[in-house]
Amino acid sequence: MKKIIFSGMQPTSVPQIGNYLGAIKNWNALQSQYNSLYCVVDLHAITIRQDPNELRQNSLNLLALYIAAGLDPDENIIYIQSHYNGHTELSWILSCFAYMGELGRMTQYKDKSSKHNENVNAGLFNYPVLMAADILLFGAHLVPVGDDQKQHLELARDIAIRFNNVYGDIFTVPEAYIPKSGARIMSLANPEKKMSKSDEAANQISLLDAPEAVMKKFKRAVTDSETEIRYDPESKPGISNLLEIYATTLGISIDKATAEFAGSGYGHLKTTVGQAVVDEIINPIQSKYSDLTKNKDYLHQIMQKNAAKAKELGDPILRKVKEAVGFIVGCVD
Ligand code: TYM
Repeated sequence: MKKIIFSGMQPTSVPQIGNYLGAIKNWNALQSQYNSLYCVVDLHAITIRQDPNELRQNSLNLLALYIAAGLDPDENIIYIQSHYNGHTELSWILSCFAYMGELGRMTQYKDKSSKHNENVNAGLFNYPVLMAADILLFGAHLVPVGDDQKQHLELARDIAIRFNNVYGDIFTVPEAYIPKSGARIMSLANPEKKMSKSDEAANQISLLDAPEAVMKKFKRAVTDSETEIRYDPESKPGISNLLEIYATTLGISIDKATAEFAGSGYGHLKTTVGQAVVDEIINPIQSKYSDLTKNKDYLHQIMQKNAAKAKELGDPILRKVKEAVGFIVGCVD
């Protein structure tokens, strides 16, 4: 039996190259070795107010994008989180095993509640519990994510261990898979800040940006007042970010990438990195994406089939959990 992977992405807008390099690229690389679930986490998305029609559209588009980016919908369980109610059921149970103190310490909660201080809702606070439920519901062994999800992963592990200590070996304790390079791609306009799909367009390279727009953004990337191309994220965040994007995109080491640019100027670095991103990421994804989004029937079939597969995998674990905590199971279903 292959081991299990679970990972997901919020359908809050179009993913950017950080989402690709930090997560999707590794999902692609790992998909043949694992039984994988790749989820469009729409339940998480509503912790920030969403326009309903946009959320529906973004969810379907993200499903298409997963496939366009290389995930095989027959080999992987690619589905929409709200299509399987096991997530919310387990999330409630796990919320009784998560402490207010630990949830309050989550950096993403602190960041998001200060950014959206008009809507600091309980869902935002419980967000990591739902994420733990996503992972534990399927007995996932490995969770490939970017660096910003590390703290959430540690909490999921803590909750699993805490639960198992009380009720026996019910949950698999998951491991994070955080890549050596590409785990934290920074904004091109402000390389001290992580690139984020919720940022304004100028600060991120969306996977659906036109190739010319991508090149323009790379040409405008903020660097520094020196001329030397060297990897040093502390003192040269802009140049280091460009080197990291290049190395991760081509699957080479940072050292090799740095050596390639020995003696070159910043202008050459920017256009070469931009071109690599266009050739390796933007063009291949976009060439498949537009056909997929036109084929609604196909996407609907995938949603249906895969939600059923997720349920098949999750229900037995959910049942064990319910039995463990003392619910009466089996007499009504
Ligand atoms: P989300 O939608 O913010 O991001 C999806 C994935 O992209 C990674 N990522 C980045 N990697 C490198 N550089 C960046 N600048 C960058 N920005 C984002 C994220 O680390 C993530 O892996 N809470 C999750 C979604 C989620 C999930 C889960 C993930 C819900 N349940 C269970 C794993 C397992 C999130 O908001 O990701």
